[in-house]
Amino acid sequence: MTQPQIKLYYKNVMADAIGSEHGISKEQLDDLARQTTPLIPKIKDEITSDKIRYGFLPTDPQIAKSVKKLVRQFKPRCENLVVLGIGGSALGNIALQTALNPYTYNLENHKRKNPRLFVFDNVDPAQFGSFLDFISPRLGKTVFNVVSKSGQTAETASQFMIVQKLLEAKFGPARLKDHVVATTDLQKGTLRKIATEAGLPTLVVPDGVGGRFSVLSAVGLFSAAMSGINIDQLLAGAADMHARVTNPDFFKNPAAVNAAIQYHYYNRGKKISVMMPYSYALKDFADWYRQLWAESLGKRFSLDGKTEVFVGPTPVKALGATDQHSQVQLYREGPNDKVFTFLEVQNHGRKVKIPAPSKSAPELAYLAKMDLGELLNAEKKATEYALMVNQRPCVTVLFPKVDAYTVGQFIFLFEATTSFAGALFGIDTYNQPAVELGKHATFALMGKSGQYDGKPYADFANEIRSSTSIDCNFLV
Ligand code: PA5
Repeated sequence: MTQPQIKLYYKNVMADAIGSEHGISKEQLDDLARQTTPLIPKIKDEITSDKIRYGFLPTDPQIAKSVKKLVRQFKPRCENLVVLGIGGSALGNIALQTALNPYTYNLENHKRKNPRLFVFDNVDPAQFGSFLDFISPRLGKTVFNVVSKSGQTAETASQFMIVQKLLEAKFGPARLKDHVVATTDLQKGTLRKIATEAGLPTLVVPDGVGGRFSVLSAVGLFSAAMSGINIDQLLAGAADMHARVTNPDFFKNPAAVNAAIQYHYYNRGKKISVMMPYSYALKDFADWYRQLWAESLGKRFSLDGKTEVFVGPTPVKALGATDQHSQVQLYREGPNDKVFTFLEVQNHGRKVKIPAPSKSAPELAYLAKMDLGELLNAEKKATEYALMVNQRPCVTVLFPKVDAYTVGQFIFLFEATTSFAGALFGIDTYNQPAVELGKHATFALMGKSGQYDGKPYADFANEIRSSTSIDCNFLV
């Protein structure tokens, strides 16, 4: 049986669809093809190089094998799985769960065959404290998956320290290994040290795979498999897309076309890239995309590290139809500075019919007997049309349905799109130097010993306090 294929639909960025002032002409598209085509073999090599290895993930049999081994070990005695991580160590997990398990998954105690799943990617005391109240009496059947490549990340480390103390107080240090799976670097880093010392079962964040490109490694796969998601199908979908995004023919390569369109618009003043799924299941992939796009493409320097370029499209997440009642006024009549990517699902996998209205409301009769999916998809087309009337460029990713296979394709499509976009912008897609300063400033304010950039943390903390402490002259 042939598997469903997601498709990139780009007619509505073309000049024929939205006019020549904002649309792409045939000649411009041919220019983009000429510019992007030579990058295709480069990206193919780049994503499976020694340095950048995310291209290997869909076809590495060891990853799924090691994940399944631990799933077999932990699932029978696990009612709650709690992922502790942040950024690339959490956003993919959340997106997979929302996409591939039912909305009420955590509530269906009798129907659900797999553990409840919670992902904590923040250190909010009210949120985490209230969760600790819930989970403390349930620790016996709870597994924590702490995910951190470095183990140095303050948010994940502090969550884990709290949980470790709780578990050790209840079961003793020797049994920590029955309740914690650590996903981290194979050899180095703080979490690897902790795991070795406590004899914790571990999974690996592969070398050369940055957090935001890691969802198809054990980072995303363990919680997915624990919650019943078919990770083989997920990886097979990604492998299928790998073949498509390495196609040397620009016009048959959805990642090359997608990146070229985004690049074209960025250079013509449309510096905002809105992703708007018309599917609740896909809503958290807009969040995942936001990190992927922002951390990868927002860069000060060109690839040689010498020329200042200050590039980076701003990714914005929206949700159809919800944000029609929040954002579309701006999207249509505000500055024409955005390119829109809709995610449209042809078969939502569920029909919910709308019944006839009350007698007093005949004006609602047009909705009767329609299905909510028909309404949602009509709203997508309506919004797309309304944007096109105002010459706003729209791309759509068409999903025949949302399942592990199509989601795997989507993940790989956008990872590869990001690599193409980075190459077009001429920057280093895979680093994130600008997140360091804030991390070290936190270390300084929290009293860590050591230094940053030659400055002792204690002096650094004083400097931060003097520029961020509240000056009452400016309080109104
Ligand atoms: O994409 C990235 O590299 C980041 O978002 C990291 O995943 C995030 O900072 C967490 O890092 P770590 O896994 O080391 O805790």
